Amino acid sequence: MSDNSFGRLLRVTTFGESHGPAIGCVVDGCPPGIALAPEDFRRDLDRRATGKTRHTSARREADDIEILSGVYEGVTTGTPIGLLIRNTDARSQDYSRIAEQFRPGHADYTYWQKYGIRDPRGGGRSSARETTMRVAAGVIAKKWLAERHGVRIQGWLSQLGTVTPAATDLGVVEGNPFFWPDAAQVPELEAYMDALRKSGDSVGARVDVVAEGVPPGWGAPIYGKLDAELAAALMSINAVKGVEIGDGFASVAQTGSEHRDVASPAGFESNHAGGVLGGISSGQDLRCSVAFKPTSSLRLPTDGVDIHGNVVEIVTTGRHDPCVGIRAIPICEAMVALVLMDQAMRHRAQCGDVGDVAPRIPAKKR
Ligand SMILES: Cc1cc2nc3c(=O)[nH]c(=O)nc-3n(C[C@H](O)[C@H](O)[C@H](O)COP(=O)(O)O)c2cc1C
Repeated sequence: MSDNSFGRLLRVTTFGESHGPAIGCVVDGCPPGIALAPEDFRRDLDRRATGKTRHTSARREADDIEILSGVYEGVTTGTPIGLLIRNTDARSQDYSRIAEQFRPGHADYTYWQKYGIRDPRGGGRSSARETTMRVAAGVIAKKWLAERHGVRIQGWLSQLGTVTPAATDLGVVEGNPFFWPDAAQVPELEAYMDALRKSGDSVGARVDVVAEGVPPGWGAPIYGKLDAELAAALMSINAVKGVEIGDGFASVAQTGSEHRDVASPAGFESNHAGGVLGGISSGQDLRCSVAFKPTSSLRLPTDGVDIHGNVVEIVTTGRHDPCVGIRAIPICEAMVALVLMDQAMRHRAQCGDVGDVAPRIPAKKR
């Protein structure tokens, strides 16, 4: 399978399947001199992990990371960083029933058509287990961005099925299992998810990510547009069906005088553009919004087709997320971080001598 790498100067390659012995990645092009230890990965790997609450899949992986290369005496050396996580809680027998069936809404039929063979155990390479390594690579990018540029990236769940937050307080996001910005609504979400799980169905979600502190100038015109690369990176996450930058599709109903972000020396008055103009960062907050479809593996029976072309009843047992968006927050953050670090390094390569250009308009009006 090709196309398991992305990024230009910072290039990430992931490998491994859901129920294989291990998953891993190689992060190539990382600058030397960044302090890096296995403990750095713990927080974000735990935020993505399953089995932490009853609202996500019951699979329990330790997700202990091994740094195989690229780090000497706790500091990156500039050589490829190899990261490995061993799979310890795969239950491949759960997939024996659907090994010869195509789950509606999953990647079974398309993998079969493309490769003529597929690893059905836990979804093989199409499983979101792969995203563990994106999160791991993203930890390095987040660290570099924070230390070198003061960039801070935060994601949250901004919609769960039809429920939207009544308030947005990012201070409470890490304090509840839904990464939800309105603490008062958490009991409502618990009841919603309990009823959904009982029914055997699943639901979609929306994840918002904001990157603060991105300086103006990152990104490139035409084929290297920052917004285009963000959209591609976020769209590459399993189950993503839409990506918006700034006001996104709401821009369609806006007038030009509403949408334009008027600036004065005191700062920008609004941020409809989402921090990107002409494919280049404006210095305002980078705003991305990502739509996740509902989980396709359901225990609700349906008719479908098997690999022999027969009509069969399809029921998916095993351990699945009733709403994949809940665990996707650190994955979206990681993809934003990796795109930003790559773009920052490309900006430094071409325009490092340009330096700060006047006037610098503050991101928000003071
Ligand atoms: C964090 C996360 C967890 C997921 N968990 C499941 C799951 O438990 N069961 C499932 O059928 N799909 C799950 N998915 C979605 C599938 O990986 C995805 O729908 C499938 O690979 C088909 O690809 P596509 O939806 O991108 O077209 C998950 C996705 C994410 C981002």
